[in-house]
Amino acid sequence: MDLGGKVFVVGGASRGIGRATATELVSAGARVVLMSRTAEAVEAAAAELGERALGLAADMAAPDTPERVRAAVGGRVDGVVVNSGGPPLGRALDVSDEDWRGSYELLIGGPLRLLRALVPLMGEGGAILFVTSSSVRQPIGGLDTSNVLRPGVAALAKVLARDLGPRGIRVNSIAPGRIDTDRLRGNDRARAEREGRDLDEVRAASAAEIPLRRYGEPAEMARVAAFLLSDAASYVSGAAIQVDGGLVSAIP
Ligand SMILES: NC(=O)c1ccc[n+]([C@@H]2O[C@H](COP(=O)([O-])OP(=O)(O)OC[C@H]3O[C@@H](n4cnc5c(N)ncnc54)[C@H](OP(=O)(O)O)[C@@H]3O)[C@@H](O)[C@H]2O)c1
Repeated sequence: MDLGGKVFVVGGASRGIGRATATELVSAGARVVLMSRTAEAVEAAAAELGERALGLAADMAAPDTPERVRAAVGGRVDGVVVNSGGPPLGRALDVSDEDWRGSYELLIGGPLRLLRALVPLMGEGGAILFVTSSSVRQPIGGLDTSNVLRPGVAALAKVLARDLGPRGIRVNSIAPGRIDTDRLRGNDRARAEREGRDLDEVRAASAAEIPLRRYGEPAEMARVAAFLLSDAASYVSGAAIQVDGGLVSAIP
């Protein structure tokens, strides 16, 4: 895949899926602005990728982020990966109003503001990719902020695909199942503590529910992301692609 000369913004890029995606894009020749909150971590991640990567400490939910990202990309953007950390764990009635509002800002409000700033810098051939979750198809136990809001993000990707298609901009989403990142390890740890079980046992039982019988690697998400952002996927828009080893069995 040749992404030479293209410029991408990747959110949540100091670790996990975002970092793997930034790595894949840079290795295909692109320039990438990596964005996440902790300056030291995002700068270190960018430094590891070399001179075509720039680290920017910015919070997806913060009101000044869009202008700061816009300034960092310098005039033109070919693709945006809308990604960050996930929303907090909890059951619907237990999650505080503040956490519900924060989850909205993280998953929908912040991304809308970011895209308002960046879409005007995108032209024909541009691509937007939302990282969502298997919760867009099937609720995940104990993660109701995601179960409620992620389907809205999938819908946002659909309406943007319709609105931006006439300008030659494609919009898609990818839904990870269980990808072995810090977030998944943290969720597994919380579950082990909650249920008084051994962490390795929780992880083995969780992997056993997946038809491919293992967690995915961040690089396995990143390869699909890079394809969807590339011209090789030039007629793919409005699609929601699961990268989950077969975890979600809902039809269609
Ligand atoms: N891993 C999975 O199996 C899985 C499954 C379903 C859905 N997902 C979703 O996929 C996304 C990425 O997950 P991951 O597993 O790669 O997570 P991760 O390993 O925890 O990495 C999250 C990244 O996002 C950054 N981040 C967190 N909050 C942010 C914010 N407000 N603004 C900007 N950057 C922020 C983090 O850095 P800082 O903390 O320094 O900001 C980090 O770089 C999440 O939304 C997650 O819910 C993941």
